[in-house]
Amino acid sequence: MGTALGWIDSHCHLTCRQLLPDVEQVRQRALDAGVARMMIVCCSVPEAEAALRLKQEDPRLDVALGFHPSDLADFSEEDWNKCEALVYNENISAVGEIGLDYYWDKQNSARQKEAFVRQLNWAVKADKPIIVHSRDAIADTLAILKEHPVPRRGIIHCFSSSWEMAMEFIRLGYTIGLGGPVTFKNAKTPVEVAEQIPLTHLQIETDCPYLTPHPYRGKRNEPMYLPLTAQKICELRGIDELVLKQQLWENYRRLFHPQEEA
Ligand code: NI
Repeated sequence: MGTALGWIDSHCHLTCRQLLPDVEQVRQRALDAGVARMMIVCCSVPEAEAALRLKQEDPRLDVALGFHPSDLADFSEEDWNKCEALVYNENISAVGEIGLDYYWDKQNSARQKEAFVRQLNWAVKADKPIIVHSRDAIADTLAILKEHPVPRRGIIHCFSSSWEMAMEFIRLGYTIGLGGPVTFKNAKTPVEVAEQIPLTHLQIETDCPYLTPHPYRGKRNEPMYLPLTAQKICELRGIDELVLKQQLWENYRRLFHPQEEA
């Protein structure tokens, strides 16, 4: 798809309420910054419907849909059914973000696990990869993914755990997503992961509107800031930007669009 020379934001919430009102400008700024392709991660059916409309205009946009572990109280059984039905749509490229968040909602861990497994089963049935959110819950996340294998695997997004833990997921076939925290002044473990990870199992992301890279930390995040994370990783690894770009594109293609030409 000719994106070999552009960056890919593998995790952005373009249709969230903070970004949707000026999404056209956000996209234009991303293109101007060399971010050609984006995975729009949607946390509700209306967000996904908005993303699918954007995708109709620009096929370089990809769409993921799943219920985030911190939002579970918001959804009725009817919402669950609508979400599942939409996940099978051929224009939805991944199920996510799904997972566990004990930082915000530890007391509901049982409900989170149930919701995670329910959506893992959709990914298996729909034959789609997953995008996993895991915060303060990395051991449980790993255990569940071992117990419920998803053939297409996916991304452990905004990875914030140790290098040893990253290797556990890589051994299962998962890709590690790194974002803005790699650039933070006090970054320790994300830097360690960025330095050591096999490039074949890496994706980069903004997770916008959050986690804006240095020196814009605290401002609203947008895909146009993705190159700051890419540059930091190149600096840490001593590699050329083109090398990273090509490898990330190959990883992305293999994961989400195996039918496309390399
Ligand atoms: Ni996210």
